Amino acid sequence: MKDMHRERILILDFGSQTTQLIARRVREAKVYCEIHPFSLGLDEIRKMAPKGIILSGGPASVYDQGAPKVPSGLFRLGIPILGICYGMQLTAHIMGGQVEKGVRREFGPARLVIEEHGEIFQGLAQAPVTHQVWMSHGDRIDVMPEDFVAVASSGSSPVAAMRHKRLPIFGVQFHPEVVHTEIGDDIIRNFLFRVCGCRPVWDMGSFVTAAIEDIRARVGSKRVICALSGGVDSTVTALIVNKAIGGNLISIFVNNGLLRKGEAEAVLAFLNGIGLNVHYVDAAKRFLERLKGVAEPERKRKIIGEEFIRIFEEEAGRIGQVSFLAQGTLYPDVIESVSFKGPSAVIKSHHNVGGLPEVMRLELIEPLRELFKDEVRKVAHELKMPDELIYRHPFPGPGLAIRILGDVTEERLSILREADAIVMEEIKTSGWYRKVWQAFAVLLPIRTVGVMGDERTYEHVVAIRAVDSLDAMTADWTRLPYNVLARLSNRIINEVRGVNRVCFDISSKPPATIEWE
Ligand code: XMP
Repeated sequence: MKDMHRERILILDFGSQTTQLIARRVREAKVYCEIHPFSLGLDEIRKMAPKGIILSGGPASVYDQGAPKVPSGLFRLGIPILGICYGMQLTAHIMGGQVEKGVRREFGPARLVIEEHGEIFQGLAQAPVTHQVWMSHGDRIDVMPEDFVAVASSGSSPVAAMRHKRLPIFGVQFHPEVVHTEIGDDIIRNFLFRVCGCRPVWDMGSFVTAAIEDIRARVGSKRVICALSGGVDSTVTALIVNKAIGGNLISIFVNNGLLRKGEAEAVLAFLNGIGLNVHYVDAAKRFLERLKGVAEPERKRKIIGEEFIRIFEEEAGRIGQVSFLAQGTLYPDVIESVSFKGPSAVIKSHHNVGGLPEVMRLELIEPLRELFKDEVRKVAHELKMPDELIYRHPFPGPGLAIRILGDVTEERLSILREADAIVMEEIKTSGWYRKVWQAFAVLLPIRTVGVMGDERTYEHVVAIRAVDSLDAMTADWTRLPYNVLARLSNRIINEVRGVNRVCFDISSKPPATIEWE
């Protein structure tokens, strides 16, 4: 792992919505990078010895009281720096230039004119050719700091990009990390490869090899447990640990009785098939018993979380001497960024195995803690996981319990499972499965009147939810074609006993959430 990290780029975050996108672009160029808050100390930066530093954008203005700053010493470390938007204004401000409130905010597409290649624009056409870039700023640079020159301009930014005359310090007013900046990748790659001298060594094949060696060295002949959910993160975690230590990994798969139709069987068959040492616990009865009469969403979540931990502890006790817990934590959960993180973390208590390591005195193994979701999927490909598992939609820990509004009973679970299975089937056959972030059915706690044949019915309502999203922090409802919706409704009402009405949820997040509870 160490070798791959030698080419590290640091991204200092000033609160931009697109900081994570910068990181993804860098990783796509096969260079390892880390996001840290802007307040990271100079000593720590020196210790990390990055090959380059990127200063992100952010909502502040450099003259605001308490505006986020970096010490001027940062620019004297001799490490290449690229400031983006606020990062560029801050660079100009600290280096003695003048930043002014723009007459009007420049937001959206703009045409960039490159006047000089200045390393970061190498290979790109110069004036009079123009390039589409994406702007999002209020302030602009009015007086250049000493020793800097402007290398590009745009309609309302005479200094759309700048460079230091001698030092490897650059700034761009626009956002190279967003797709609307057509030349964004070229600029980032020029910075990484020409300015910082990085090599493209970060790839998922070597990541897996390095992760396996790391785990082997750390664990030795001790034992590791892992909680499997059937989702891609926990499965990839288990596969990597398994490759490292084989039979000394014991994976625990708890069937809480709240899974989708056929899911427990499918997950178990796959896990056994690839030779994992899986400890299967059928705890459906226990969970249902504890959920009896509980309708309040947070109570449901708490109960399921507690019961899961209890079962996990019991099983671990039965297994005996265990020293480590392997978890599928991903990089977005680790980043201590100042960015807007979305309200979901506090609005719902997400159920995971947090809390377990302390109680059980286990050390954590988190092989994916440096990876983004798309990178985990690449690792999954490397490990030859079937596509069906790799691209499986996210499924919440508390399972169908939070998709059954009101009491969770066997009967209601069975109705939802059937309806949900139809949603899955139709979304797959119509080619929408890979296009949506998540799709599922929800059972409502009401009954409505209908007519079937000549009979009056008084039965349940199913809602269908399908959303598009990049990271589940925000989401919009998917514009599924009417014919797909029509088939869904028709099949659910005809095939699922006890349902006589189907609705489609057209709420975005925020203000709604993806799950209903
Ligand atoms: P919400 O409903 O907060 O969901 O918009 C955002 C994403 O998180 C999933 N989700 C969960 N995942 N444990 C999980 O592992 C949970 O308790 C949980 N609750 C919601 C949800 O399916 C969506 O993808």
